[in-house]
Amino acid sequence: MDNQALLDFTCRETVRDPYPAYRYLREHHPVYWSPHFKAWFLTRYSDVFAAQGDARRYSSNRMQQLVDAQVPEEKRAQLASFVKLASDWMYSQDGDPHKASRHLLNRAFTPRAIETLRQTIEVITDEELSCLEQQSDLMANLFNRVPALILAKLYGIAREDALKLRRWTDDILIFLVGSLDPDHGPAQALKGVEEMYAYFADVIAQRRQQPRDDLVSRVLEAGKDSASSNEDVLAQIVFILVAGYTTSADQLCLGLLHLLEHPQQHQALLANLSLVKPAIEEMLRYDSAGSFSHRVLNEDVEIHGVTMKQGQLVYLMRAAANRDPAKFEHPDHFDIHRKHNDHLAFGRGEHFCMGTALFRLEAEVVFTSLFKRFPTLHLITDKPAIWRTNNLQFRGLKSLPIDLGKGAAK
Ligand code: HEM
Repeated sequence: MDNQALLDFTCRETVRDPYPAYRYLREHHPVYWSPHFKAWFLTRYSDVFAAQGDARRYSSNRMQQLVDAQVPEEKRAQLASFVKLASDWMYSQDGDPHKASRHLLNRAFTPRAIETLRQTIEVITDEELSCLEQQSDLMANLFNRVPALILAKLYGIAREDALKLRRWTDDILIFLVGSLDPDHGPAQALKGVEEMYAYFADVIAQRRQQPRDDLVSRVLEAGKDSASSNEDVLAQIVFILVAGYTTSADQLCLGLLHLLEHPQQHQALLANLSLVKPAIEEMLRYDSAGSFSHRVLNEDVEIHGVTMKQGQLVYLMRAAANRDPAKFEHPDHFDIHRKHNDHLAFGRGEHFCMGTALFRLEAEVVFTSLFKRFPTLHLITDKPAIWRTNNLQFRGLKSLPIDLGKGAAK
């Protein structure tokens, strides 16, 4: 394949497996201007690591630039309200407003607060495992459901409502990250945001009247002793779902696929389920669901002799960094025994993922329960996994058909 084809990020095959392109960029163009995304790509571990930790020069206030880079000029005006709302998510904030937004959520997301959810997650997972048929698409019937049901518990909202969330979050996320799919364009993103805001404005109003033991009530409580407005609270409540649902569902599914595609690693885990934690870290390193983040330069920055200009977009390609041989031995090997797995899947610095402890706990419970119950589950040879190839940033599968082997109820 010539280099131009290799770097064609509109090609579905490249989106499905971008790792050869990332390797080429890391080796030959560590600071690369992507004409398609109208953004710089940083692909080496040391560069991504440094930029993730440098909020002074790399601003997160990115929504307008992303829209400008991806939406034709004549369609931008209709997105003004989308940009305004999404610019209030902590993900898009810098400095003091960003600190205030994290403060709102801090208490709800400490490792200790999350650990109290273990039993709830076990019950949800067991219920879902009990409903699986002998041959089942685990993306639709397990991984898409468990994170939504956990978030429903956390938010104190109805199960059926939680299962609607994926449509909203997909419409928003896939548009934001440069969709190749007309079903995930600006109109859908705007509609998704509006519906989500209306839904959660209602939930917030109810909790203000009648607080409960849930995340929304806790965030409202934290908001009382800060200068946060109702809009700030609503923005962060909605954003957690945008940030936490699709990524968790996709990461669980991708992780299982890679494990099953490496039978020795799969057997090693089955023989010793206490390896589940390092196995999850390797899943995160090997193929991260959220494979990069965007930043906007506050000033000119020079790296490896290339000057990136103030105001330009920069993509911090964590998926490429996590396969950098300068940091990881045999980076393309999937190895659940890997030591010092200092991957960047959750970012770092000011915007370090707030859902890290929740995802790790969720993954530990889901994989442990799944393998205990179905120790001989396996891929189905004539029904391969189907990849979602409509965007480069959020990696995931459309379906993962699995035969549960012994132990299946039906
Ligand atoms: C495998 C699952 C997940 C992955 C790979 C992931 C990854 C990330 C990454 C890379 C960032 C930083 C973005 C940036 O630097 O621009 C981030 C931010 C964030 N994540 Fe996650 N995340 C996951 C799950 C979750 C969950 C389950 C939640 C909550 C329920 C969550 C909540 C957040 C929040 C609130 C932020 C924004 C932090 C900030 O901007 O200060 N994430 N996530």
